[in-house]
Amino acid sequence: KRVILAYSGGLDTSVIVRWLTDRGYEVITYTADVGQGEELTEIPQKAKASGAVDAIVEDLKEEFAREYCLPTLRALALYEGQYPLTASLSRPLIAKKLVEYAKKLKASYVAHGSTGKGNDQVRFELSVWALDPDIEVLAPVREWEFKSREEEVEYALKHRIPVKATKDRPYSIDKNLWGISIECGPLEDPWTEPPEDAFEWTVDPKKAPDEPQYVEIEFESGIPVAIDGRRYERLSELILDLNGIAGRHGVGRIDMVENRLVGIKSREVYEAPGAMVLYTAYRDLLSLTTDRFTFHYFITHIPHEYAKVVYEGLWFSKLREALDAFTSEVAKLVNGKVRLKLYKGHVQVVGRKSPNSLYVEDLATYSEKDAFDHRAGANFTKVFGLPLKVYGRVKNAGGGS
Ligand code: ARG
Ligand code: SIN
Repeated sequence: KRVILAYSGGLDTSVIVRWLTDRGYEVITYTADVGQGEELTEIPQKAKASGAVDAIVEDLKEEFAREYCLPTLRALALYEGQYPLTASLSRPLIAKKLVEYAKKLKASYVAHGSTGKGNDQVRFELSVWALDPDIEVLAPVREWEFKSREEEVEYALKHRIPVKATKDRPYSIDKNLWGISIECGPLEDPWTEPPEDAFEWTVDPKKAPDEPQYVEIEFESGIPVAIDGRRYERLSELILDLNGIAGRHGVGRIDMVENRLVGIKSREVYEAPGAMVLYTAYRDLLSLTTDRFTFHYFITHIPHEYAKVVYEGLWFSKLREALDAFTSEVAKLVNGKVRLKLYKGHVQVVGRKSPNSLYVEDLATYSEKDAFDHRAGANFTKVFGLPLKVYGRVKNAGGGS
């Protein structure tokens, strides 16, 4: 019985290695570098010390940025209008790799360390099933006997599983280059302001530089390609650099109560400095370069629908592909530069230009260059306002209420 386990190197997944081994499974761990900024060189050693027969570590940063973060940016998808889906996006990619390795290494099981009351279990399992309906998914945390972290630690010590000696912060953290999600500890009281030690990538806006910083982001066909004139071959590096730049100004903190798939509300804190700057820039360039019909349709329907698809684990669905077809078509127009000002926790667009901008100064101006046909305005307004005129007449005559 061979199983490929999504392995982070933390307590839960280390205990899972041993727990599965005890139950007769041969465990191969899989760990991805998705830009969490942690050294992964010791992972194989750690996995094997916990009982794994083999440990795979892969750098997926660029694939994650191009194939997962970029389409989500192009949809301007924010779950419940706020959450840029950081953790939600890495699950389908990891699931895809688990399935690939299961095939290659002839394993008929894959496993993950998500709990039974979270979203991640749904994302892992739906992704795995969409790609290979015959693989069985194991989720030990949903069924094991430990009632508390203490019992888990006790089991780990008994089995000589390396447990980090360093005092952990009280948070449950998930990190990748698109952002960090922070849960648990004092954050479980939604009335409690997140303590400063909850944040890693953003400084307290109070301590951010007193001078604003301007950044120019350039897009080509909806792909961010340069910051301040410096071109990036790798989108993952652009995003990581932007995290640094915006994080120094305290940009990208999100504090919300969100609706999980399993029916509960949870208090979530996120840091997504680079992503939030890119969303702000992208939206602005989209509004400059798309006609009103397309832009209104887009912002009314796409961000919410796409966010639901990602959040609810439907990455490998026809619906996501079809939405991507729409956003990729529109993305062809998203060319040019956006100038943004970063200052004490805020990001503000202060300038934009595009080779295919639909802004026509001769039409917009109030100066003598004005080329707009003002007379056309009178008849337009008459026709456009007709429904209200009719309504007003009927109402004043005592009809309706
Ligand atoms: N609530 C967020 C989401 O559903 C964050 C999940 C974080 N996952 C974790 N294992 N800590 O996407
Ligand atoms: C988990 O269950 O692993 C974390 C919470 C979530 O998935 O939302």
